[in-house]
Amino acid sequence: MRVSRRTCLTGLAGAAGCAALSRFASAQLKPTQATDLTIQTAQAEILPGTMTDGLISTSMDRPPPVLQMNQGQVFRSRVTNTLPDYTAMHWHGIRVPNGMDGVPYLTQIPFGQDEAFDYEFTPEDAGTYWYHPHCMTMDQMALGLTGVLTVAEAEDPGYDADIAFNLRDFRLNGDGEFIELWTARGAARAGTKGTVVTANWRVDAREEAPAGGLVRVRLAATDTARIYKVFVPDAEGAVIALDGHPLQQLRALPLTEDGALVLSPGQRADLVIKMPEDEGRVVDIMNAMPGGPRRIAHMRSTGAPRQRSTSEIVPLAPNPLSEPDLSNARLENFVFGWSPDGLEPNNGLCGTLGYTFWSINRTPWAGDAAEGTGPLASFRLGESVVLRLQNESPNAHPIHLHGLTFRVLRSNMRAVSRHWTDTALLLKGETLEIAFVADNPGDWAFHCHVIEHQKTGLAGYISVLA
Ligand code: C2O
Ligand code: CU
Ligand code: CU
Repeated sequence: MRVSRRTCLTGLAGAAGCAALSRFASAQLKPTQATDLTIQTAQAEILPGTMTDGLISTSMDRPPPVLQMNQGQVFRSRVTNTLPDYTAMHWHGIRVPNGMDGVPYLTQIPFGQDEAFDYEFTPEDAGTYWYHPHCMTMDQMALGLTGVLTVAEAEDPGYDADIAFNLRDFRLNGDGEFIELWTARGAARAGTKGTVVTANWRVDAREEAPAGGLVRVRLAATDTARIYKVFVPDAEGAVIALDGHPLQQLRALPLTEDGALVLSPGQRADLVIKMPEDEGRVVDIMNAMPGGPRRIAHMRSTGAPRQRSTSEIVPLAPNPLSEPDLSNARLENFVFGWSPDGLEPNNGLCGTLGYTFWSINRTPWAGDAAEGTGPLASFRLGESVVLRLQNESPNAHPIHLHGLTFRVLRSNMRAVSRHWTDTALLLKGETLEIAFVADNPGDWAFHCHVIEHQKTGLAGYISVLA
């Protein structure tokens, strides 16, 4: 109850808010459950009125579940593969030991049909993260294998409900059948967008939420290409976290279309929304699309009014991250651009799109199984690092670093938020500086999260030497 207690102590919540606390005073974390996952083909109604075959999930007919973990408690998952293709599972944004990171050849051997891999790690950071395969990534993710992962704060912040929306597209025709999952044209440009925009595998997903309650809404952009511009036009509340990590300065709702929250592939946002007191009222979650705004999800108020107040929404406790020493940091430059020539990608067990369009520092990633591919840079354990990320291409790239959490320091084009993150959107013509402490030893994948870019060269890794 740290956060709420702090509010009461500072008097921000008022007497009513503090009285409301007593309902949560005994709230205790349930121990973390081991959750085994069986990767399999699935069937579901994605486009209303049709059935889509050939989905990939962890059950026959549902999206991958929201995995629930607790900060500081061990999590175990045996991931079993029933598909004819190889796989490996990655826990996006979680600072895991290198061997648990799920990157084929770099951190583990991918596993084939009827094989399994036991993942085990203890999340140090609370917040909203996600999981997806890092082998056969284009196919398996486009066919459905992306799930939300939550890590509960060690102290319960006392919201009335917790609702996750997994935002992603599917590429389906009018009969609900998959069409080509990617295109060379898209891979060489902004990525190939889906035809059906969903939340939790539903068009215009609907969730019930307690009337008058404070509801934590977790949005995760798990699509392979789409950059979401989320707005919540008629809601009270605040954005409390981005990319898993608490904001120390909350951003108040509503979010208008002009001030939409940009969520590029891999990014997340946590909102606390105060539901209307009356039953049956609706809060819309909108996305600004090229053809005009579209509702991607909504929440309907139910039950007796809870009469919570937005003044009870306060910053969550920060996660335990080390602040980089900027006066002593090592600077490395990374240039993201076109691939110099038509290099033959190496297939291995994890698939190739057969093209090379992109590079980091003029070196395209030669394929997951390629021999002799060295790190982009190596750092000493504990070293403070500044990476200058320069985009030479006319497309935007959500740049993602595994195993380490960074701050965006500055941009040559815009004001940036300095929150901790694992994925930063690098705009056309932009140079971003990011900083972190290299405090997790191992080889950490570093790539664009537009999967067609990742799989056609815009990938690499950095090493933190133990
Ligand atoms: Cu979300 Cu390298 O991954
Ligand atoms: Cu990741
Ligand atoms: Cu990219």
